[in-house]
Amino acid sequence: MINIAILGLGTVGGGVAEVVEKNQKEITKALGDTLKVKYILDIRDIPGAVKDINLIVNDPEVKVVCETMGGKEPAYTYTKAALEHGISVCTSNKELVDAYGVELSGIARQHNCSYLFEASVGGGIPILRTLRESCGHENITKIAGILNGTCNYILTNMKAGKDFAEALKEAQEKGFAERNPAADVEGHDTARKIAILASLVSGKKYSYEQVECEGITNITRYDFADAEAKGMSIKLLGVYDANEGTVIVAPYLVPNTSVLYGVNDVFNGILIHGTQVDNLMFYGRGAGKLPTASAIVADVIECIREQGRTIPNGFDGLEPAEVTGKAKKPSGKFRILEA
Ligand code: HSE
Repeated sequence: MINIAILGLGTVGGGVAEVVEKNQKEITKALGDTLKVKYILDIRDIPGAVKDINLIVNDPEVKVVCETMGGKEPAYTYTKAALEHGISVCTSNKELVDAYGVELSGIARQHNCSYLFEASVGGGIPILRTLRESCGHENITKIAGILNGTCNYILTNMKAGKDFAEALKEAQEKGFAERNPAADVEGHDTARKIAILASLVSGKKYSYEQVECEGITNITRYDFADAEAKGMSIKLLGVYDANEGTVIVAPYLVPNTSVLYGVNDVFNGILIHGTQVDNLMFYGRGAGKLPTASAIVADVIECIREQGRTIPNGFDGLEPAEVTGKAKKPSGKFRILEA
């Protein structure tokens, strides 16, 4: 039996416990052993949960920690403590990956364990693993992604006539939105995700502060009518363009000829262009309890299979990126995605 711990019993942490329980049979088959959640740590008073990280990191039976607390602290301190004890950490915490991912990856290497963060981008879509394992040889020149489930849910519902506040409330009730939904609607969450993707494919560390960022709060219902009349839809995109030297987040007009046009509700779509493979499109649930938890469990299984070595996560040793270009201003209210 392999023991793991979950840090933070919120939406995603609860999802990890649920996936481990519901898919025990499939996990055992994939792992060749059973998986058990030995500890749940939460700073709140929750029956059965512990509050002391030392209990977890000093227990030699714990092989992997799932960090689903979100935010920088105490997630950073706890992650560092686990890695320094040789315990691999799997996370959905894009804020931490963006801010400390390079440092934490180095600590993992020094202690022969792994720091994986599949669930930090695209919810349940296995995009990071695919980029590092299947596309490592590709020269990826462009990424255009619908990367925030909450914004996509809001925009889809606004297009159908609902107002912004009502759609946001629904996204919060469904567990898609960040604790502070400004991180979603102002585009910062998308900025963190496109910065992580740009870092992986460029081999230079982009931080979210380097991303030119505009959210969805200035979009009106009239904008949707205009877009529709032109055969387009409005989507919040994170776009990395290696040739232009830009990383931006902005609402785009997406033509109905684009594969991103039909990506609605909480779904994410990530379109990648490689010089040899041409276009690849990834689609799936970008937020929500079980899809995000499923991505974490995939990382847990990989860490256990590779126990004793460090899985190259694409972040270790990255030097800071320089943003060399400035994105052109749109001629109208919105930029238009080239199909
Ligand atoms: N708030 C995020 C979203 C959660 O809506 O996409 C998943 O990262």
